Amino acid sequence: MNDTIRHPTNGAQAEQLVYFPRADGSRIPFEVYRSPEIYNLEQERIFRGPVWSFVALEVELPNPGDFKSTFVGDTPVVVTRNLDGSLSAWVNRCAHRGAMVCRSARGNARSHICAYHQWSYDTRGNLRGVPFRNGLKGLSGMPADFDLKEHGLEKLRVDNYRGVVFATFSSSAPSLYDYLGPQMRPGIDRIFRKPIMYLGCSRQYSKSNWKLYNENVRDPYHASLLHPFLSTFNLNRATTRNEQLSDARGLHLCTMIFDTDDASGGAAYKDSKIASFKDSLRLEDASILANVKEFDEEANIQIQSIFPQLVVQQILNSLVARQILPKGPTNFELIFHFFGYTDDTPEMRVHRVKQANLVGPAGLISMEDTLATELVQSATATSGDCLSIADMGRDALEKEQVGSMISENPVRRFWRGYQELMGL
Ligand code: FES
Ligand SMILES: [Fe+2]
Repeated sequence: MNDTIRHPTNGAQAEQLVYFPRADGSRIPFEVYRSPEIYNLEQERIFRGPVWSFVALEVELPNPGDFKSTFVGDTPVVVTRNLDGSLSAWVNRCAHRGAMVCRSARGNARSHICAYHQWSYDTRGNLRGVPFRNGLKGLSGMPADFDLKEHGLEKLRVDNYRGVVFATFSSSAPSLYDYLGPQMRPGIDRIFRKPIMYLGCSRQYSKSNWKLYNENVRDPYHASLLHPFLSTFNLNRATTRNEQLSDARGLHLCTMIFDTDDASGGAAYKDSKIASFKDSLRLEDASILANVKEFDEEANIQIQSIFPQLVVQQILNSLVARQILPKGPTNFELIFHFFGYTDDTPEMRVHRVKQANLVGPAGLISMEDTLATELVQSATATSGDCLSIADMGRDALEKEQVGSMISENPVRRFWRGYQELMGL
């Protein structure tokens, strides 16, 4: 951990990269969505800094030797199940000359052998073998002071909370338990209260900055305006009862949205001619809207954003861990890991698979989100010093804003937390 020689960004220069004109998070320079320098600084100060990044669901790695390739920020990382059942994670970059060691998305292996010169590593990333290390038939080998122990793969700290696996490069990051904190643990306890079954994943690429998606999932204001499905079928309207819980720094957010009868039938949307409300929209099969009650705390929707690369979602009975992976300043990948519970009945499994259509690249609810982030990205590419405005609800006291869907308070809190982490 942190034992690799890196070239830190010059701190004095970093502060000059971008200027946030207000301390309250309500003005966001568009530069933060497109600057390669800021992107590089994020990799250093956030993704290789004191945060925990989601890397896997434990159920993806059930057996000793199981592994999956993923990323922490844009650093390729492999997560493995060791022979004693523990989990490890290491950077997928050979300690010899830097080749990618593991070239499979998933699999099972007791050792990982680099294709280039066949250096081999165990599941923990320790170097175990170097071909021709002692020479061959009088030909020279490695120098006498070459020590296998000094040339393992770069390792990350790994921790697991209720089967949700995170990794960090930082030796100074708090424990995962404390990183999640008392505000975020209950939401994870609720969803991961019993063994889960992995159902599969879908992937999409967005031509926009990874923070635009982090904003989007912390933005209750947009939900019933951008998404016709939510407002028309009363899954989420401006008056829907909800609770929002944020950590002290504002980086994480858990939003719970409760079933709220709207006796007016969405009159406020109709009267205001809000385009997302489509009175004539009907479902051929309304069973996709069924909510089979399965939680003690009944919420139709729980969206929990764990900074920087996880969103845990319950929408009705659709359970998903969304993984956000930055791919340069203007692209990110979004992976939807769908799951259910091991004790689901066959009917419940069919129901969850049907509700998988709510989210994902073409999801009835989620397809507009990455459209919105791309609309921002494309229009702000050449916007100079212009600023994004997040003023909704800014005059209200923070305590009054808790529970309001017509608010950008969580967006402002996110940006304040981001500035603090980045030192901007
Ligand atoms: S680069 Fe991996 S063995 Fe040489
Ligand atoms: Fe959305």
